[in-house]
Amino acid sequence: MSENGHVPSHIAIIMDGNGRWARRRGLVRIRGHREGVESVREITRECAKRHLQQLTLYAFSQENWKRPKREVNLLMKLLKDFLIRERDEIEENNVRLTAIGRIDGLPEDVQRELAISIDESKNNTGMVLCLALNYGGRSEIVDAAKNIARSITAGKMGIEEITEETFKKFLYTSEMTDPDLLIRTGGDMRISNFLLWEMSYTELWVTPVCWPDFRKRHLEEAIKEFSRRERRFGGLQE
Ligand code: FPP
Repeated sequence: MSENGHVPSHIAIIMDGNGRWARRRGLVRIRGHREGVESVREITRECAKRHLQQLTLYAFSQENWKRPKREVNLLMKLLKDFLIRERDEIEENNVRLTAIGRIDGLPEDVQRELAISIDESKNNTGMVLCLALNYGGRSEIVDAAKNIARSITAGKMGIEEITEETFKKFLYTSEMTDPDLLIRTGGDMRISNFLLWEMSYTELWVTPVCWPDFRKRHLEEAIKEFSRRERRFGGLQE
C-alpha cells in the first residue's frame, strides 16, 4: 500500500507494559515505571520537534488506584518529579501542558505542581502535551451529562440543544481535537476506558514493544503506518 501523505496531528498513547518489562528483567515493577518516564521524555521531545498539534498520554487511570499502595505512591512521585524536572524542557520546546481527568482526586502536592506547570506553559504556542490523570472515559461522559443536567436545571440550556456538538463542549477535551492515531504499547488489543467519546474514528496501532523500550523509531513506524491508512469516517473513498 502506498503512503497517502497524511500525518497525525493528535496522537494519544496507552503506555502499557511497564510491569512486564521489569518482570522479564527480574526487576520490581516500579523499575519499569521509572524507565517509562525516559520514554515519556523522548517521545514528547520527538513529537514536539515534529510539530504535532497534540500528544495525549494515559499516565494514570481511575482503575489504577486498585494497584498496591506502594506502586500508586511511586507513580504519583514519578509524576510529581516529572512535572518539576521537565519545566525547562517544556519551555524550551514551546510545549503547553494540560491535563484531563478528575484532577481534584489526585494528591494535593501533585495537583500543586501540575497547576504550576500548566500555568507556566499556558502561553506556549507549540505542541499541547495533555496528561490523562485519574482519568476514565466513562466518568468523563458521566461528568459531562451531570454538567448538562445542571445547565438545563439552571435554565441555561434546553433539552433539544443537546447535540453531539454541544455535548462535546462539556467533555474534559472540549478545547481539543479528537486523536487521529492511538498507539498502544505492550500488545493488548484494548481501549481500556480511554477517550471513549473522542476515539470514535481514531486509527488504532498496537505494538508488542513495552513502553520502557518504546523509542523514536517505533513512533516513526506508527506514523508511517498511519500515513498508509485510508480514513473514510463512515463515507466512501473519494
Ligand atoms: C502501564 O504499565 C503503565 C502505567 C499504569 C503508568 C504509566 C506511567 C508512566 C510511564 C510514568 C509516569 C508518567 C508520566 C507522564 C511522567 P503496567 O504497569 O500496567 O504494565 P503491565 O501491563 O506490564 O503490568
